[in-house]
Amino acid sequence: MANQDTSVDALTKAEAAAELERLATILVQANTAYHTDDAPDLSDAEYDALKRRNAAIEARFPDLKRADSPSDQVGAAPAEGFTKVRHEVRMMSLSNAFDDDDITSFDQSIRRYLGLSATDPLTYTAEPKIDGLSLSLRYENGTLVQAATRGDGQVGENVTANARTIADIPTTLTGVPDVLEIRGEVYMSHADFADLNARQAATGGKAFANPRNAAAGSLRQLDPEITKSRPLRFFAYSWGALSDSLADTQTDAIARMAQLGFQTNPLTQTCGGPADMLAHYRRIEAQRATLGYDIDGVVYKVDDLGYQDRLGFRSTTPRWAIAHKFPAELAWTRLEAIDIQVGRTGALSPVARLTPVTVGGVVVSNATLHNEDYIAGRDANGAPIRDGKDIREGDWVQVYRAGDVIPKVADVDLAKRPGDATPYRFPHTCPECGSEAIREEGDAVRRCSGGLICPAQAVEKLKHFVSRGAFDIEGLGAKQVEQFYSDGWIREPADIFTLKDRFGTGLQQLKNREGWGEKSAQNLFDAIDEKRIIPLGRLLFALGLRHVGEVAANDLARHYGSWAALADAVDIAKPAAEAYLAAERAVEDERRAADQDGRRANLTATRKAHWQDVPTPVRAAWDDLTGIDGIGATVAVSLLTSFAQEAERASIDRLITQLTVEDAERPQTDGNPVAGKTVVFTGALERMTRAEAKARAEALGAKVSGSVSSKTDLLVAGPGAGSKETKARDLGVDIIDEDGWFDLIEGA
Ligand code: IVH
Repeated sequence: MANQDTSVDALTKAEAAAELERLATILVQANTAYHTDDAPDLSDAEYDALKRRNAAIEARFPDLKRADSPSDQVGAAPAEGFTKVRHEVRMMSLSNAFDDDDITSFDQSIRRYLGLSATDPLTYTAEPKIDGLSLSLRYENGTLVQAATRGDGQVGENVTANARTIADIPTTLTGVPDVLEIRGEVYMSHADFADLNARQAATGGKAFANPRNAAAGSLRQLDPEITKSRPLRFFAYSWGALSDSLADTQTDAIARMAQLGFQTNPLTQTCGGPADMLAHYRRIEAQRATLGYDIDGVVYKVDDLGYQDRLGFRSTTPRWAIAHKFPAELAWTRLEAIDIQVGRTGALSPVARLTPVTVGGVVVSNATLHNEDYIAGRDANGAPIRDGKDIREGDWVQVYRAGDVIPKVADVDLAKRPGDATPYRFPHTCPECGSEAIREEGDAVRRCSGGLICPAQAVEKLKHFVSRGAFDIEGLGAKQVEQFYSDGWIREPADIFTLKDRFGTGLQQLKNREGWGEKSAQNLFDAIDEKRIIPLGRLLFALGLRHVGEVAANDLARHYGSWAALADAVDIAKPAAEAYLAAERAVEDERRAADQDGRRANLTATRKAHWQDVPTPVRAAWDDLTGIDGIGATVAVSLLTSFAQEAERASIDRLITQLTVEDAERPQTDGNPVAGKTVVFTGALERMTRAEAKARAEALGAKVSGSVSSKTDLLVAGPGAGSKETKARDLGVDIIDEDGWFDLIEGA
């Protein structure tokens, strides 16, 4: 066969065909190694050279071009291997606790929410937190019909064929509800992990970093035969959709799952309260090293499922459970250099480049240093941290990992400091665009003032824009965004949507790019078109405004309903952000001055002075915005000032002309009498606590307000209601009592 060095011109037709076949095989492998296994087996230069050779041969013998020609393959991940599954009941994560006090507070807040006294009985379950990946198994009429990974909690990957190969997962069940979703953790034991890595080494395969990665890599195989050859296990600990309840308590539900033939963790225990829970935590911690599989903490859950129901969920975590993590693992290594990265909001983040070191089974070579104060050895208030020891390039530092998060630098060993080490000087200009980097009062972070002219900010903003919770455009990931940005094709979000038009009909330019073929370019344009219709909440999150995360974005969307209403409100309230900032600055000055003069500060008057000339509609729009549950002044200021910046606003407006923004869904509006209503609770409530009432009402799409006004639709008044009830009566607002409220929402 012709080898790679044979000149294309010298190839016979038969040799060319054979060579194209060889190149197709190599390049497909290289794509998989790069995109799917994250383990490139060719250098970029080698890869490019092979692709060029492939293209040259095709140009000389066009009729030999293969159906699977590498010229037509996208640089991005090959077409999705797994189909997507929308979870009928969202897969939640857990909030974390790190010390004993967090557990007492957890118990207290649950009691408060449920209205239980400190002595009312309240039991919990405690079980190990398995360090694997969660899986949801759906049984219909006793037959396993679907297995799905967690994904983003709402949509996961369909791995049914693979799950069927796991011995711990029964494929049929008897005597169960028609619909039964069992959830639990797929994991790999230490012994099986060691065997697998030995086999991988013997066959030239990739070694896995830890059992969790091995479990994830084994479950997410396109070929179920590979999964079958991997020793995966499964512990059941939870459930999703059910047509009938499993039990009345968590304890009994776990017993029921065990009875059905699932493995449940033998260290699961019912506990009478925090003291018991902590004792069990210590017992599990003491056994951790001998269990034979990885656990990273203990999960506590309220035992009574009726209470679990009442407690419900925050946006991504249940109120009735918490994960008590084991302390982080530590290691010492050399800090080789400090690099500064610029994020999408312009924040300059110092990153420690480390001599690679293993921390809890994972090789760590980068860690965060937080901000300039942290490096200097002080906290945000100027108080010393690490006894005031600063961190310098060349230092010997202690690194730790807590759960999944980015490793951190915790400590420094002064005895090992090199003689020539000098204090680190945090840059005052942006390393990416040279603009001044400013640190505002009260902000721990120094930020590049370059805005959209700073390439780092622009690229990070774009990456965020296309990311999973945002526009999530298939085939347009971080890598492609970087490439398109540096080619000058995409500078701001709106450009993504004009890409196709700018290329006209000739996909030529894109097609000629390394890694893009006609088909993949067309696929990209289709994927972009698909996202021209976007829900308001997603759009707001995608804009990447400081402090406006997914939760705030959705709160805003639900409140305003439509893009037009939001843009209107924001335009009106714009001057309020200025007034707010001026007032807060003046308040701070007054506080300081009063302190110096030894008099009482007059904060209310100071604040008032700055608001006095603000017109009433502006004030009202601001009050409306900051009155949204979950939206404080910080989010409001960020939103209003971003929209007030001309360049930023123009860029957003350009984007909007490309899109159809879907109005926000109001939750459960069908046949639900309180959706969209503004409700006020007052007086004593007997059947639920205030927090519970508020959470329930909001889940039904109502707005809960603290005060009665002409906008109030309904007042729920318990015994002892006072001025609010009088006011509601004067305004002609509907008034009902607590029982009336329950009647109203019954069945909603
Ligand atoms: S309960 C709604 N119990 O931890 C509650 N999760 O950090 C759902 N995990 O996504 C979770 N062991 O993958 C629960 N005994 C256990 C667990 C456990 C491990 C994982 C699970 C979850 C993650 C949250």
